[in-house]
Amino acid sequence: GPQCDLQGLWRNELGSNMTLWALDAAGTFSGSYHTAVAATNKQILVSPLQGAQQHPSAKGQPTFGFTVQWLFADSTTAFVGQCFVDRRGKETLETTWLLREEVPSRRDSWKATRVGTSIFTRIK
Ligand code: BTN
Repeated sequence: GPQCDLQGLWRNELGSNMTLWALDAAGTFSGSYHTAVAATNKQILVSPLQGAQQHPSAKGQPTFGFTVQWLFADSTTAFVGQCFVDRRGKETLETTWLLREEVPSRRDSWKATRVGTSIFTRIK
């Protein structure tokens, strides 16, 4: 079947947009993430991401992961997911994310991680 290609411009159900640049030979990639929402009232800034795709040269529906280094918050988000492509060639990224916020002490660690799922569709 058709191959799922991570490179491009994607949007999720929150209205967040991300651009993923071309993979290198090892399957690693970078990009930028423009989140539509934030956990604080700080002004949102487009933030860099770094990731890796599994079996980068094979055809198919690869798994991948990336982390976002937020430029306006002390938190970090890690996404893992899989790129699916349907019979019409429409690509979808099915992801699960963890958002770790910085807390002042270990006593607060229990409440420092959020989890969620997110579906991205290609917009370019
Ligand atoms: C922060 O507020 O700590 C940084 C921004 C976090 C945005 C989160 S990451 C998971 C979820 N999906 C998005 O597109 N935005 C939120």
